[in-house]
Amino acid sequence: MAIVETKLLTKKYNSFTALKDLNLIIEEGDIFGFIGPNGAGKTTTIRILSTLLAPTAGVAYVDGIDVSKHPYEIKKILGYMPDSFGVYDGMRLREYLDFFGAAYKIPRAKRSAIIDDVLTLTDLTSKADDFVSAFSRGMKQRCCLAKTLLHDPKVLLLDEPASGLDPRARIEMRELLKTLREMGKTILISSHILSELGDMCNKIGIIEHGTLLAAGNYKDILHSLRQDLEVLLEVVEGGDAAAEILASTPGITGVERSGNEFRMDAKLDRVQLADLNTRLVQAGVKVLSFTQDEGDLEDVFLHVTKGGL
Ligand SMILES: Nc1ncnc2c1ncn2[C@@H]1O[C@H](COP(=O)(O)OP(=O)(O)O)[C@@H](O)[C@H]1O
Ligand SMILES: [Mg+2]
Repeated sequence: MAIVETKLLTKKYNSFTALKDLNLIIEEGDIFGFIGPNGAGKTTTIRILSTLLAPTAGVAYVDGIDVSKHPYEIKKILGYMPDSFGVYDGMRLREYLDFFGAAYKIPRAKRSAIIDDVLTLTDLTSKADDFVSAFSRGMKQRCCLAKTLLHDPKVLLLDEPASGLDPRARIEMRELLKTLREMGKTILISSHILSELGDMCNKIGIIEHGTLLAAGNYKDILHSLRQDLEVLLEVVEGGDAAAEILASTPGITGVERSGNEFRMDAKLDRVQLADLNTRLVQAGVKVLSFTQDEGDLEDVFLHVTKGGL
């Protein structure tokens, strides 16, 4: 079921079109990576979804509710973490969370247990009595996420949560997002840093100049973009037999062999690739691995986006 959906969503800042006819679908339980270079329109989209910005045209729904018509309902089910956040001088973490808990109208009696929960979740329990302003960037991010989780939102919109984090803080953020997903939350996470999202998101959408260029399952996107797949074959025995079979298979070109390892271009669909694998095995070749070189997210991104990088 689509929990976030936009239809022909458009945003103009005066005459400048920042977002053009965006159709986005995020299903319940997805971790959706919203990827694009700076200025692509990610923040604009996220701010519209979180009711902070009115679209020029089009509609957006969260959990079936029109965000423009029912902002108050949306705020209850949505957690929005902006790409930059103010520092609250002189506030200790627990006070900071209590302040926002009160703002979310969480009853005082329940608040401290909820705060303990989000502190545990974000691994900040030991920092509860420290000043927020003294935190590292990674800790501030987690503290902002803790605040975003106070009202237990179904959907999280995280705008560039990993930007400016050191590698360790990034790994911690990634682990935290995994936990949140296991808790059943739907997460949209934006980034212009691609390698971060690769192993974290089940779906991605690539946006540039306000237009969604591709969206869906990461592997499907990769497959549809690649004309020629690079295939890697490694055998333990039967290298010569394998070479003959490859040479006589239509659609296989540019075979490079190095010992028992082969690299080739394949204009074959997935079923044809599987059939080729079967033929190799039936001819007595001991196949160790037969895989598509899927490249990484960086490749997909460079393929899809033409400029603006
Ligand atoms: N308040 C604004 N007024 C005018 N232009 C804006 C405003 N906010 C964003 N833009 C422009 O809209 C485009 C998209 O911005 P944004 O959504 O922040 O992109 P991203 O988050 O992908 O970097 C950019 O070209 C940006 O300069
Ligand atoms: Mg942005």
